[in-house]
Amino acid sequence: MIDQHVVDRIIAASDILEVVQDYVTMRKRGVNYLGNCPFHNEKTPSFTVSPSKGIFKCFGCGKGGNAVNFIMEHEHLGYVDALKFLAKKYNIEVIEKEATPEEIEQKNERESLMVVNAYAQRYFSDMLHKHSDGKNIGLAYFKERGFHNNTIEKFQLGYCLEQRDAFTHSAIHDGYKLDNLVKTGLTIQREDGSTFDRFMGRVMFPIHSLSGRVIGFGGRTLKTDKKIAKYLNSPESEVYHKSEILYGIYQAKKTITQENKCFLVEGYTDVISMHQAGIENVVASSGTSLTHDQIKLIKRFTPNVTILYDGDAAGIKASLRGIDLVLEEGLNVKVVLLPEGEDPDSFSRSHSSTELLDYVDKNETDFIKFKAKLLLDEAKNDPIQRANLINDIVRSISVIPETITRSIYIKECSRIMDIQEDVLYTEVTNQRKKKFEQLIQRESFEIREKETPRLPSYVSGIFCEEQEREIIAFLLNSGEQVLFHHKTDDFEEQEITITVAQYIIDEILNDELEFQNLVYKKIFDEFGKLLTENKTTDNRHFINHQDTQISQLAVDILSSRYKLSRIWGDQNEEDFLQRAVPKAIQVYKSKILKTAIKRLMDDLANLKSEQKDDINDILSKLNQLNDLMNRMSKDLDRVIL
Ligand code: CTP
Ligand code: MN
Repeated sequence: MIDQHVVDRIIAASDILEVVQDYVTMRKRGVNYLGNCPFHNEKTPSFTVSPSKGIFKCFGCGKGGNAVNFIMEHEHLGYVDALKFLAKKYNIEVIEKEATPEEIEQKNERESLMVVNAYAQRYFSDMLHKHSDGKNIGLAYFKERGFHNNTIEKFQLGYCLEQRDAFTHSAIHDGYKLDNLVKTGLTIQREDGSTFDRFMGRVMFPIHSLSGRVIGFGGRTLKTDKKIAKYLNSPESEVYHKSEILYGIYQAKKTITQENKCFLVEGYTDVISMHQAGIENVVASSGTSLTHDQIKLIKRFTPNVTILYDGDAAGIKASLRGIDLVLEEGLNVKVVLLPEGEDPDSFSRSHSSTELLDYVDKNETDFIKFKAKLLLDEAKNDPIQRANLINDIVRSISVIPETITRSIYIKECSRIMDIQEDVLYTEVTNQRKKKFEQLIQRESFEIREKETPRLPSYVSGIFCEEQEREIIAFLLNSGEQVLFHHKTDDFEEQEITITVAQYIIDEILNDELEFQNLVYKKIFDEFGKLLTENKTTDNRHFINHQDTQISQLAVDILSSRYKLSRIWGDQNEEDFLQRAVPKAIQVYKSKILKTAIKRLMDDLANLKSEQKDDINDILSKLNQLNDLMNRMSKDLDRVIL
């Protein structure tokens, strides 16, 4: 444990914005900063940092907290390790005191699982080096594969004895809880309560987090029986998320940055053999196609990825799928095809590291060219297959974010496939248009998500003068102002905008609410009409309106604009509107809700005995409204933040 006063110093030194900016590009928005959330995939930034409050909050996925919480979440660390991580960043010396049994007890589940995994790693390594079976079977196997001692140490390889529960037994004996052993998947518990070791009789490959802690294992059987799975992996757990980690990233990250390049291979042994051959910037996706999170992980260190495939056609085709994902992230993908029958593991064992690097240099092909050639060979002169091929390539090119890169590829493909460049251009443009339309649909859906909760239709006819007036004031003052706008990532030039008037009208109409003040209602309806007819909603239209009630109200409201600008303070208008307009709608709806709830309560109180049947109806409505009210209050807090 770390001394409390040191903890306090670390927390005081950790500037939330600085900490976050090590990982996320943040832009200033008013007093806060906004960026794309690192914890979930998003195109529209909803990840907010408030430097003054010292907190981050994502309105997309809900994650939030202080600088320590951010590091815990991002680096997959426990509380204490996150503190140490920050201490290192801010050059604060950490003096640790002995942990008391209670403190050990208190460590959260993640931490306990990490501790169990660390114990297991030590245990498996001990068995490999000290137990006779470990030496004769496990170590002998690694030696036979040509792994040197320092390689075995570097990757912390081990051996799990071929005994039902030797590991589980030892762990329990050393004070680890069965519950945690089961949660990490190291121990499997049958329904009758009996337990056995998941990795019985396997050589062990620990899987490390980015910061070098063991989060899971892969275990390879030494049997040749085809019915036994060659590799077994840890199941998903609180600490091991297969889709978010790459095997070898901890050992590779420094070299990836230095070389500004990352090799991607298929499996554990490929990574290890390449390290041994002197190539350390290598990670494995462990047999599956790459996920978004894994690509992001690579992207934190380099934009350049070279995939090393073994030379058999089936393997290549399987790996081609999912590569569009990598292109889409804007990574530069290259491919090296190894000679037929070789994988990176066998190749690096039979060649020196210079030979391997030479081979890579000579055979590295950019991905599009590689794909085109490969498919072209297959299609030969079959016109239908050729058409499919062109579509396929066009799709891959169209996801590339940079215009220049795209046109280079189009040129190249036109040459390789003997198709006119402008035909390819047209196709790529069509694909991008299609994609863009889908994107707009999704983004406007995301904006919808920001809307307030819907009110049920039986809530109607409730009058809130003050709120109705405020909303009308926003319409007249700022109706044409842009409320939300997104520069889309993939299509830099394009913008999606929602104006204040569009937002307000959507919100009110979707709830089938009606303003009770008839003049306000007239103005509101007119706004709706102008918008559906795609006309401007310039406020001069209302000032000069032939209906004098409307024109007078418009003048009234517009001449008191100073009230709005006074509340803005030092924020710009857009920042102000983004908070104030949704808030005005929220307040309006919650006023209506409050009145509706009160009415129902009165109904309940005045209910006569012969109307018993109505009780259930009223109660269920009350429940529903109270529920909405709760959500609304929570949202209101958010809007105010
Ligand atoms: N894999 C897995 N489960 C399996 C088979 C494979 O998780 N049943 C993953 C492992 O990460 C493995 C990778 O897919 O490393 C590649 O599989 P394969 O080429 O069969 O294994 P190698 O790494 O070549 O292993 P070895 O050389 O020991 O046969
Ligand atoms: Mn192999």
